Amino acid sequence: MPESVRLAPSILAADPLRLIGDVETAVRCGADELHVDIMDGHFVPNITYGPALVRALRRAFPALWLDVHLMVSEPARWIRPFAEAGASALTAHVEALRSPDILSDIAGLGVRPGISLKPATPVAALDKYLPQAEYVLVMTVEPGFGGQKLMSDCADKVRQLRERGYRGRIGCDGGVTPENAPALAALGADTLIMGTAFFRAEDPRKTADAVHAL
Ligand code: DX5
Ligand code: ZN
Repeated sequence: MPESVRLAPSILAADPLRLIGDVETAVRCGADELHVDIMDGHFVPNITYGPALVRALRRAFPALWLDVHLMVSEPARWIRPFAEAGASALTAHVEALRSPDILSDIAGLGVRPGISLKPATPVAALDKYLPQAEYVLVMTVEPGFGGQKLMSDCADKVRQLRERGYRGRIGCDGGVTPENAPALAALGADTLIMGTAFFRAEDPRKTADAVHAL
C-alpha cells in the first residue's frame, strides 16, 4: 500500500465557468490527482463531459494525474478516445462489463486500468477483474450526482477487498469528507475522491492538509 493517502478532487463540484482556476487551486493545495466523472445519461441519470475536456485539461496541466471515471454503459467504446485525450487512469464499472478483457485493453493503450462498483454490487462481482485491476474505486453513493451522504455499508467493501488480499489502490468515491476520511483510511482506502468537500470548502487547503495528515 502507498505510504500516504492520495487526495483526488472531483471536478464535478467545481465551478464550470471557473474550471481552470478551480483546478489550479486543487494543484496548489497539493491534490495528488484530479477525478473526472464521465456520465452518459444512460448508465447514470446525468451527463457530464467528453474527451475534449480531458484533452484540454491535459494540455493545461501536463503533469497532473487524470483519473477518468467512466460511468457509461459502453466503456469499451470510450477507452481509446479518453486514452488519446490524455487520461492517466481509466476506471470502468463492473456492472457495464462482460469480461475482464477491457482492463488489458486499457493497459495496452498505456493507461492504468481501474474497476468500480455501485453500492448494490457485492465485492464478489469483482473477483475475475481484480488480477488485472490496478485500482478499485468503491462507490460510496449512488453514482450520478455529487453532494450526497456517504453510505457506510459501502465503505466496508474496502475492508472486504483488503481481506481478500487485494493490494492495489482502493479509492472511495462519494460523500467523502475530512470527518469520515480517517475511518476510510483505517479500512484500507488509499485514495479519497472529494467533490463537494474540497471545491465547496471555505478553505480547500485545510481539507487537503487533513487528508495528507492521515
Ligand atoms: C458521483 C461521482 C463522484 C462525485 C463525488 O457519481 O462519481 O466522483 O463527484 O462528489 P461528492 O464528493 O460531492 O460526493
Ligand atoms: Zn467519480
